[in-house]
Amino acid sequence: MILITGGNGQLGTELCHLLDERGVKYFAADVAELDITDKASVDAFFDKNEPTVVYNCAAYTAVDKEEDEGKVIGEKINVDGTRNIAEACARVGATMVQISTDYVFGGYLPVGKEWNEDGEEKHPVSEYGRTKDLGEQAIEASGAKFYIIRTAWLFGSYGPNFVFTMLNLAKTHAEITVVNDQHGRPTWSRTLAEFMTYLVDTDAAPGYYHLTNDAAAGEDVTWFDFAAEILKDTDTVVKPVSSENFAAKAKRPFNSTMSLKKAKATGFEIPTWQDALHQMLAIGDLRPNKDMEKGTLRK
Ligand SMILES: NC(=O)c1ccc[n+]([C@@H]2O[C@H](COP(=O)([O-])OP(=O)(O)OC[C@H]3O[C@@H](n4cnc5c(N)ncnc54)[C@H](OP(=O)(O)O)[C@@H]3O)[C@@H](O)[C@H]2O)c1
Repeated sequence: MILITGGNGQLGTELCHLLDERGVKYFAADVAELDITDKASVDAFFDKNEPTVVYNCAAYTAVDKEEDEGKVIGEKINVDGTRNIAEACARVGATMVQISTDYVFGGYLPVGKEWNEDGEEKHPVSEYGRTKDLGEQAIEASGAKFYIIRTAWLFGSYGPNFVFTMLNLAKTHAEITVVNDQHGRPTWSRTLAEFMTYLVDTDAAPGYYHLTNDAAAGEDVTWFDFAAEILKDTDTVVKPVSSENFAAKAKRPFNSTMSLKKAKATGFEIPTWQDALHQMLAIGDLRPNKDMEKGTLRK
């Protein structure tokens, strides 16, 4: 059995749609069906259902809230919850696919350089980055077979994200300012969902992978570039500004561009972020992420 945790989230919903299209059976659970922080429930679920593959899409993702009122719950979900799933996977012999983040990297990386998949010192600068890093460590310690995929700047049809924010702002603003000094790469949830299943289906070497959408050789991408591409067919003007103009509780990495070498070496083809964005917008199927029945075995 394939288990998807956090199945109502942005990525979990995308993965459900992908498996539906392929006619693959799975069990999608969100917190109501399987609270990953409840170790006894997780163990009982695994004993009863013996999943063979677990796509862990459950997480605490409120990055700024995690700096204060979300600190305790963030640690509970991203560290304890991840550990519960990893230890249960190890016990029943399931493969765990975990989604981690560019936020585990906090150190200074000059523009034009990329974080490697392995061997980097992480030094997260936010609670979210810290707890996701501890989640990675808990998986390593569990002994489970794992794929930890670090991603960034996730967008797609099924959750609040930067693309929707920009499109909504453009309805009421003739001009929008967007930061031009945080560097990275956007990731379409569809590309990520395809990569998650690709690693499992091809029995790729376990370990760490990075997956964002690709960029042209030497191309540097900032949030301003992303916004300009999203709004290029609208009348709204996008203007670059410094991060100093946007006070946020959690520190953001200055450059979180991640190497895609390992992902590419598996043979997986990664679309550019521009192609991915325009494919997503062309599909125009912006279903809300709570529209599907969850907690039932489908297909
Ligand atoms: N979004 C990004 O830009 C980004 C960037 C890098 C990495 N990631 C990682 O990508 C993964 C997917 O992110 P996403 O954007 O799909 O996040 P999301 O939309 O916030 O989805 C997370 C899901 O987990 C559920 N959940 C929370 N606590 C749970 C618990 N105790 N037990 C079971 N489920 C629980 C949430 O339910 P509720 O909504 O009811 O709380 C939600 O449905 C996460 O691991 C995230 O850290 C995201």
